[in-house]
Amino acid sequence: MEMKDTCAVITGGASGLGEATARVFADAGAKVTLLDRDTTRGPEVAAELGGTFVETDVTDEASVQNAFTTARETMGCVNAAVNCAGIVIAETVLKKDGGIHSLDSYRKVIDVNLAGTFNVARLAADAMKDNAPAPDGNRGVIINTASIAAFDGQRGQAAYASSKGGVVGLTLPMARDLARAGIRVMAIAPGVFMTPMLAELPQDALDTLAKDVTNPKRLGDPREYGQLAKFIVECGYLNGETIRIDGALRMM
Ligand SMILES: NC(=O)c1ccc[n+]([C@@H]2O[C@H](COP(=O)([O-])OP(=O)(O)OC[C@H]3O[C@@H](n4cnc5c(N)ncnc54)[C@H](O)[C@@H]3O)[C@@H](O)[C@H]2O)c1
Repeated sequence: MEMKDTCAVITGGASGLGEATARVFADAGAKVTLLDRDTTRGPEVAAELGGTFVETDVTDEASVQNAFTTARETMGCVNAAVNCAGIVIAETVLKKDGGIHSLDSYRKVIDVNLAGTFNVARLAADAMKDNAPAPDGNRGVIINTASIAAFDGQRGQAAYASSKGGVVGLTLPMARDLARAGIRVMAIAPGVFMTPMLAELPQDALDTLAKDVTNPKRLGDPREYGQLAKFIVECGYLNGETIRIDGALRMM
């Protein structure tokens, strides 16, 4: 699929990897609709890119359904969906103060990162299924965001890594389910990218993270995530796989 023919819904589009993806896509001629719960930054980014912002909670069925209705009305169709909305927590299972990992916080991360991703993906498929097919039968592509924590989860990441492992796990069966509809499903597993999610960490912690990257020795630039998402849209033979983008970082 060419970028000029791409009508993309991007969740988490108000910040970080989602915002960068929206910029890469719009710069290449795609139409974009940004879904986010951030009603300050979201409309600003959308206006800058000539796109549309829809206030959305990815965990809420009616909210996402409404967003896809708006996206189809404003862009004419939806043939790409990129799931970047997500949250992170750090909590160990048994804490130094004697406490135990909260079940509520575990469920919250699973709800946003995994159920929210699935909610958007399934409604994206519904929005794409009646698109006119390309000569190879393809009607659209869904890109989910996992994390290298799905494979190398660290201390304090039981909840986050579970949610991202779920995203990796749903990619192949969903690609198989949607094959008949001509919809591809891919996932990206980023390493450590310099986004607002990380910006709260002190500089020495960021320096340590960068030092552990094999090559190049720096954090990922969110635009590099956007470039990979763009390549996945354009390369119609990619399907059912999770691609790591991490400078060969393997976390211990
Ligand atoms: N930054 C990294 O190093 C990194 C690494 C691996 C994976 N990831 C994943 O990439 C994705 C994007 O991360 P980021 O670094 O850009 O974070 P970010 O905090 O900059 O952006 C996340 C966006 O998601 C939105 N959001 C959160 N919950 C939402 C909800 N329920 N409904 C709608 N929008 C919601 C936030 O408002 C925010 O705009 C996340 O899934 C994250 O887990 C990030």
